[in-house]
Amino acid sequence: MDPIRQQFSVSYSYEVLFTEALFDTGNRLLSECLKTNATQQPVRLLVVIDQGVVAHHPNLIEQIQAYMQHYAGELELAEEPLIVPGGEQVKNDPVYVYTLQEAVARAGIDRHSFLIAIGGGAVLDMAGFAAATAHRGVRHIRIPTTVLSQNDSGVGVKNGINAFNSKNFLGSFAPPVAVINDKDFLPTLDDRDWRGGISEAIKVALIKDTAFFEYIEKYADELAPPTRADEPMQHVIYECARMHVEHISRYGDPFESGSSRPLDFGHWAAHKLEALTNYELRHGEAVGIGIALDCVYAHLAGSLDQPSLERILTTFERLGFDLYIDAMEGHLDDPAHPKSLFRGLEEFREHLGGQLTVMLLATIGDAIEVHEVDYGLYKKAVSYLKERVNSKAIKSNGILGLQV
Ligand SMILES: NC(=O)c1ccc[n+]([C@@H]2O[C@H](COP(=O)([O-])OP(=O)(O)OC[C@H]3O[C@@H](n4cnc5c(N)ncnc54)[C@H](O)[C@@H]3O)[C@@H](O)[C@H]2O)c1
Ligand SMILES: [Zn+2]
Repeated sequence: MDPIRQQFSVSYSYEVLFTEALFDTGNRLLSECLKTNATQQPVRLLVVIDQGVVAHHPNLIEQIQAYMQHYAGELELAEEPLIVPGGEQVKNDPVYVYTLQEAVARAGIDRHSFLIAIGGGAVLDMAGFAAATAHRGVRHIRIPTTVLSQNDSGVGVKNGINAFNSKNFLGSFAPPVAVINDKDFLPTLDDRDWRGGISEAIKVALIKDTAFFEYIEKYADELAPPTRADEPMQHVIYECARMHVEHISRYGDPFESGSSRPLDFGHWAAHKLEALTNYELRHGEAVGIGIALDCVYAHLAGSLDQPSLERILTTFERLGFDLYIDAMEGHLDDPAHPKSLFRGLEEFREHLGGQLTVMLLATIGDAIEVHEVDYGLYKKAVSYLKERVNSKAIKSNGILGLQV
């Protein structure tokens, strides 16, 4: 018998929208955005909010309720907004995914309703996974509230939680219906979360866009705490989000079937350092260190020139990033040791499957992929960062002592 061939393609399209005062009744953005996708009126909504956001925006729940009341013919809260813990803890315990799935069932959220998640990248990752799995997928809208989630984690197609000692082990590729970035959430971020997300912008600039790196370099002092200037930050978020969105659709591998993932430049070390520090280190901070390490390595390997390396490291330092922590040093001579930073390379390869693929910076704005690394040289790169940080006594975040 001849094989029966199945083939179809599904097209995805969503917008990343920028606004302020999202829940002011005069702001129609959310209601418009839900209307265009709705097949029933009023549209039923389940809202989940990051506890850290609620703590800093105590009127938020009331504002959301007033907004829904104002647009009562179009929108309806299925139940009181749910509040979940913010940060990595919400991805480390599967109970929160279950809580949301249960709420979807209880509140009668169906495939024409929406789950709206408001929070940092961790809450969005967890809620997106719950949305993707309940009813085999209910529509979700992301309202990111940190720099990193507005410019990177919230604008893409991935969701997930941590499991079996592995970051993002359980998850889904499930694009949102829309992403709405409201800049009014950002002033309440602590300095570490304000700064952290800038590393993702530096990442994408370094591998793709020299001019964008130069912009960040130029405004590093204004962007850094305590100044925390709004205007350059909005530009950094916009450009970074745009480049991430563009990469996902244009690079030809939105659901990451290949072994190459350029947007994970600097991430093999970052993911390992987050785990080694029990997630004391924020994702963005870890990415800063991971990029610095891979840039020093690229220089030692004869790829990146010294002046370019200096510009990159100085930009991170002016922004207040710590580029070395003690956890980097343990068990480097035993790459298979679970607490060795180098174990992160194998874990990174396993997560993607296939061949190890690491980005090596050639110049600012251009990187090449390599499939083998030299541990001896990486060890030198760790020492380079340690010596540099110790000699400058840069201890701005107080994270230097983080160790296993
Ligand atoms: N899905 C993806 O493609 C992707 C990409 C990159 C990173 N991530 C994930 O994103 C997570 C990191 O996200 P993050 O950097 O946004 O941090 P986060 O979600 O861990 O939040 C950090 C802290 O900020 C608080 N917070 C959030 N918004 C706030 C606000 N407006 N004011 C005050 N406090 C606020 C949170 O409660 C939390 O305590 C990691 O789990 C990482 O793995 C996912
Ligand atoms: Zn990242």
